Order: sequence, then structure tokens, then C-alpha cells
Amino acid sequence: MAAASMPAKFEVYRFDPSKDQVPRYDTFTLDLPPHTPVLTALLKIRTENDPSLTLRYSCRSAICGSCAMLINSKSRLACQTQIGPEIAAHGKIVIEPMRSQPVVRDLVVDQKPFWDRYRRIEPHLKLDAREPMPVGKENPMTPEQVERFKETPRCIACGACYSACPAVEADPAFPGPMALAKLYRFVVDPRDKAQKDRLVRIQPDGLWLCLRCHLCTEACPKDVRPSERIRDLKEMAIAAGGLSENGSRHAHAFKENIGEAGVLNEMKLVRQTYGPMDLLKSVPQGIKLARKKPEILKRPHPIEGIDEVKAIYKALDPEAEGK
Ligand code: FES
Repeated sequence: MAAASMPAKFEVYRFDPSKDQVPRYDTFTLDLPPHTPVLTALLKIRTENDPSLTLRYSCRSAICGSCAMLINSKSRLACQTQIGPEIAAHGKIVIEPMRSQPVVRDLVVDQKPFWDRYRRIEPHLKLDAREPMPVGKENPMTPEQVERFKETPRCIACGACYSACPAVEADPAFPGPMALAKLYRFVVDPRDKAQKDRLVRIQPDGLWLCLRCHLCTEACPKDVRPSERIRDLKEMAIAAGGLSENGSRHAHAFKENIGEAGVLNEMKLVRQTYGPMDLLKSVPQGIKLARKKPEILKRPHPIEGIDEVKAIYKALDPEAEGK
């Protein structure tokens, strides 16, 4: 039996930079079954209400990645998102173009910034010139080696993670979650011969700008889990290049602080994160902060339950005892 239709209200972002000064939202109400994909609804609007509505799509099966857009403020694939749960949660469906990329028209964005950042990580195998690939022969990997890619081969480059990422929006130096997940894939590929170089170069190139908010992992329609691979890259980068960057020193100092007292010692954290020259630059800001919040100058007392924190650290890294 066919599912009963329900009234669904859509507010769709409209903007044509060649003639509009500001964007507007057009409202459409359709009767549709709750399992209808948002993409199907948009195509119906285009066919029956407004043929000028501009959007990008191809496979309609969550494979090509081209229909990514904001659906009720979340970066999603329109062909994979059903209208029923959206109406139940929000009462309507607001559809907008992805963030951090200029709008070409309506729901279509110019993905050049996304692909430019992706190219910066050099997403191709780098072989050793002294050991060229044997012509006409395969360079196979074992199933165990393929397992090391984790979920990264699932990526369809839809850009949902890029659109969801606040670090992308804040800083052009950040390569973005998809680029870093792809970098991870090359770093763990046993055929790639530039592992250390990739890890050392990515640190000043923005690895540490990741805010650890996990919004990329939440947005990814293929469960690639970019934030987890960024975490892995950070660990591997420290192993390859040591504590050479403010970001790596900050992460290390944060862990040490919590392990000692269960709470941050902010003065120590700043001292450990920045080198002496950078620390001098932050003295005026530190004085202002200390005037407002003098307790930051004191060494914090260990929290109640610090022994449990220490036990967790010990369980995670038994060899750290006595270091
Ligand atoms: S149309 Fe291909 S992923 Fe949605």
C-alpha cells in the first residue's frame, strides 16, 4: 500500500548574482509521501512551479556526490535525505547552498576553493624515482594493508564535510576534512614513498587548525569519519616531526596538564605551547587576562578523582610510567 502523502513546506534559497542584489527564499508547499527524497521534491518544484530553479545532481543514488546542499542548516545529500523526518523535526524544510563556496546560482556553488585545497595535499601516489613501477606489472597490496585505509575509500567528494567545517570557513590555510582524510589514505599506503615528507609538510600547512568539533564526521553521508583520520594524522605527524609546531606542542602540553592535575594550568599551557619569542608577543594580553582573572597565575589544585585520571592515562599508555 502506498504511503499517505503529507503537506511539506519548502523554503528554497534563490540567488542569481548576475541580477540579484541580495538572496531571497521562495516558499513552495507540496503533498508528498514522507519517504520522498528532498532531491525528488526539488525536481518536482522545478518541473511544476519554477523551471528556473538551479541545482546540481546526477546519480540520484548517493554515489556521485553532486547534490550536496544545506537541508535545515545541515550539509547533506538531497537524494539521500527524506522529507518526513525533516518535517517532523523542523516543521518545514529550508534548503540552501553549501557554505564556504561562492554561489553560482540558487543551490549551485563554485567548488573551486574545495578542489584547490584538495590539490594542495598532492592526492596521488609518490613513488621512489630509484624504484620505478615495473612496466606492465601490478603493485598489489595485501588485504591487511588495504584495511589500513579504514573508511577513506568510501569518500565521494561531495563536499558536505567541507561545508560543515568551521575551520575551513575561518582559515584558508586549513586543507579541509576531505583533503586530510585523503592525505591519511596516502600516508598509510605502503606504495607511497613520501610518508614522512607529507606528515612534516602538513603541520605548518594547517593540520593543527582542526578544531576537533567532529562536525565533518557528523555531516559525511558515507561515514568516512574525517575527524578520526585527522586525529590519526596528528599522532603520526608528532611521531614523524616531533613537537615542532605550536599545534603539536599545544596538544602535547594539554595532555600533560590534564594528566598532572585533571585540569588545565593555563599559564603552563601557554608557556609550553609557544616558543620564547611567541610567548613574549603575548605578554600584554597575558597581563590583561591576569588582571581580570588572577587565579590563572596560581598552580591549580589537582581535582578530586585525579587518581582515576592517572589510571586512565596509565591504561592508555602503560610505558609512559616514569617518563
Ligand atoms: S545525485 Fe548523486 S549523490 Fe545525490
